[in-house]
Amino acid sequence: MKVKLASSYGFCFGVKRAIKIAEEYKNSATMGPLIHNTNEIDRLKNDYNVGLYNSLDEVKDNDTIIIRTHGIPKFDLKNLKAKDAKVINATCPFVTTPQQIVKKMSAEEYSIVIFGDKDHPEVLGVQSYAKDQDDVFVILEPEDLNNIKFKYSKIATIAQTTKKKEKYLEIVNTLIPKNKEVRVFNTICDATFENQDAARELSKEVDIMIVIGGKNSSNTKQLLNISKENCIDSYLLEDERELDPKWFKNKKLCGITAGASTPDWVIQKVVNQVEAY
Ligand code: F3S
Repeated sequence: MKVKLASSYGFCFGVKRAIKIAEEYKNSATMGPLIHNTNEIDRLKNDYNVGLYNSLDEVKDNDTIIIRTHGIPKFDLKNLKAKDAKVINATCPFVTTPQQIVKKMSAEEYSIVIFGDKDHPEVLGVQSYAKDQDDVFVILEPEDLNNIKFKYSKIATIAQTTKKKEKYLEIVNTLIPKNKEVRVFNTICDATFENQDAARELSKEVDIMIVIGGKNSSNTKQLLNISKENCIDSYLLEDERELDPKWFKNKKLCGITAGASTPDWVIQKVVNQVEAY
């Protein structure tokens, strides 16, 4: 069976990059989980002896510490650098950008609004770069702006990388009539949406479509629904053991895509198996 992979699938650029960095630094440790995927973290531990620290107190002299994809707060980074450890930064470049914007805009006396989840590691990291921690506000809804007293009449806004643009626009539209100056930075990352566009395109040209990912993962289910719109023979499975040879009878081309939390090695096993049919 001929296989064609979607032009974008599985882990995003930032996660792939962080894994590559971790593989380069055997016997190191990450500060907080490197990515949101326990299977992959276990694999890095087993194959590369990459450990996991949850607090700075665990860091020992001469350790090599990898900073996770979502970044860490500025003060943690400072404390880490003060220790006798080698620091390797695997923060996704799309997360470093909002950190730098917050630093610059708050130094220029803009009040800061962050559209995001206040407990998310990425947001905690980005927020920490504000000069004045009392003048940075993390919100989820336009209504959350109602009771905020900004220090300055100039506002700078950024968004958590995985947030939806539509809601961000609502927040910006609420801010503009009430403030003299609003600087809007589009820090939303398109990676999650790229997999969906690629699945849509691929499902138009294949006879059968395989979507690999967790049965409970909402982004994987979304990929299945999109695939089904164009290719009725679309199947969702977690790994190669769930493949059924009957599905491939009289089919010529099989499209494969995977959810954002599916590691490459799981995908590869499915590809090998399908190619053998
Ligand atoms: Fe991934 Fe970086 Fe975007 S971690 S979702 S590419 S912000």
